[in-house]
Amino acid sequence: MSLFDSRALTAFRDVVGSNHALETDDMMAAYTTDWTGRFQGQSPLVLRPANTSEVSAIVRIAHEADIPLVPQGGNTGLVGGSVPLRGEVVISIARLNQIAPVDVLAQQLTVGAGATLSKVQKHASNVGLEVGVDLAARDSCTIGGMIATNAGGINVIRYGSMRDQLLGIEAVLADGSVISHLEGLEKDNTGYNLSGLLAGSEGTLAILTQARIRLHPTPGNRCVAMVAFPSVADAVEATAALRRSLPDLHAIEVIFRNAMLLVSDHIRVSIPAGTAAEAWLLLEVAGQGDSTESLGNAIQGLKSPVIDVAVAEDTATQRNLWEFREKITEAIATQGTPHKLDVTLAASRLAQFVEGVPKIVSDIDEKATTLMFGHLGDGNVHVNILGGNASKVDSSIDIAVLAYTASLGGSISAEHGIGTAKRDLLHLNRSTSELAVFRSIKQALDPTNILNPNALIPEENL
Ligand code: FAD
Ligand code: MLT
Ligand code: ZN
Repeated sequence: MSLFDSRALTAFRDVVGSNHALETDDMMAAYTTDWTGRFQGQSPLVLRPANTSEVSAIVRIAHEADIPLVPQGGNTGLVGGSVPLRGEVVISIARLNQIAPVDVLAQQLTVGAGATLSKVQKHASNVGLEVGVDLAARDSCTIGGMIATNAGGINVIRYGSMRDQLLGIEAVLADGSVISHLEGLEKDNTGYNLSGLLAGSEGTLAILTQARIRLHPTPGNRCVAMVAFPSVADAVEATAALRRSLPDLHAIEVIFRNAMLLVSDHIRVSIPAGTAAEAWLLLEVAGQGDSTESLGNAIQGLKSPVIDVAVAEDTATQRNLWEFREKITEAIATQGTPHKLDVTLAASRLAQFVEGVPKIVSDIDEKATTLMFGHLGDGNVHVNILGGNASKVDSSIDIAVLAYTASLGGSISAEHGIGTAKRDLLHLNRSTSELAVFRSIKQALDPTNILNPNALIPEENL
């Protein structure tokens, strides 16, 4: 039995049709629990609109009846922002998945917010172009969700994050009105950058329905290498050196020891280089020149000690090396429900952080295990805590690790966002004055607080 006005619920159903208004627990299960299983909510209704007009009609009804909505794309978000934790109605954007022909002249694409990343990648690759953001959830995550979280992924060092790919958006505002700016002009200084504002807004300011994104020429020659280091500090130092010496660096990822042992076991393949190492870098160079030669020279020129190197020139072997990085999240999920933290540190603090975190965790819970990996080129470490007493609801370890991050000048959210998981810790990174600006923006765009009301903005700030 829902607390919401039954006439409004009926009006919602009328907008999408009964096939796309899901109401049984079975049908809603995939929409009410997050990817990790840590965040489980409930909802009276999951709505699956087909187009922008239906999204607009739904939001108009919600606005008039004061019904909170949680926008959802692929539900791969890792911070509890995509699920209805307080009984909100879910509005899934997955059916807005149309992809226009690539504008080859402009190297741009207009795409529905519900299109999955892998579909868009395939579409772009047919004309020799690639999307600037790539991540392991590519088969499920959507362009709208990626914009809403300002997703990062493995190529940020080359192309920036999702915000940097945006030339314009179409979105439904909290009163149901639609804004659309999809012309794709590379230079366009006509006032506030609304696409930039909505990037990273986590469904709290508007519902994205379409986007105009830039594409990049697919680099010709690729080489991938895994390099094993005896210490975290050596891997960090090598990262800085490789970024300086390799202009065609496409990705520079890291796997620390615990995560490497787990993933190697999970995929049943032995560690390709340096079994005794503490840290492994996964490097990809992609350009027009001889990528193998430039990567080889750069590794040889490193001053940091290297234990061993595995190089992959052909696509199949490259994919095998990438498996070690891309399967970690899945490997961790097989061990239980993890607490997932996602932080950035300045390069000068990275080694101290990675060496300090396991003790912070074990001081709180000696049975918990800490696994770390991430996008080292961006200073982005993913800290995953498993086992022990780390229950779904107890956040004491999360608070301790994030407070430690902030004490070292780091960010408590590098790329996953704040969601519901970290909203009450936002003060660790944002001053009272900044939070007041956040609140003003939220009130200007969503005065009745119906758009993802429990995400991002701390409760006392609403
Ligand atoms: P959802 O999970 O559905 O939603 C995420 C947030 O966006 C929610 O707050 C939701 O309300 C909002 N939202 C969704 N769609 C819309 C819309 N149309 N309009 C307005 N708001 C909307 N993230 C990274 O940044 N880098 C990575 O490398 C990375 N790797 C991952 C690997 C795995 C295996 C998994 C499971 C996740 C990974 N993620 C990564 C996290 C996740 O994939 C990203 O945050 C992604 O951008 C979420 O997209 P989604 O469509 O699944 O969004
Ligand atoms: C990744 O880089 O693999 C992710 O952001 C997912 C995770 O943190 O598990
Ligand atoms: Zn990541």
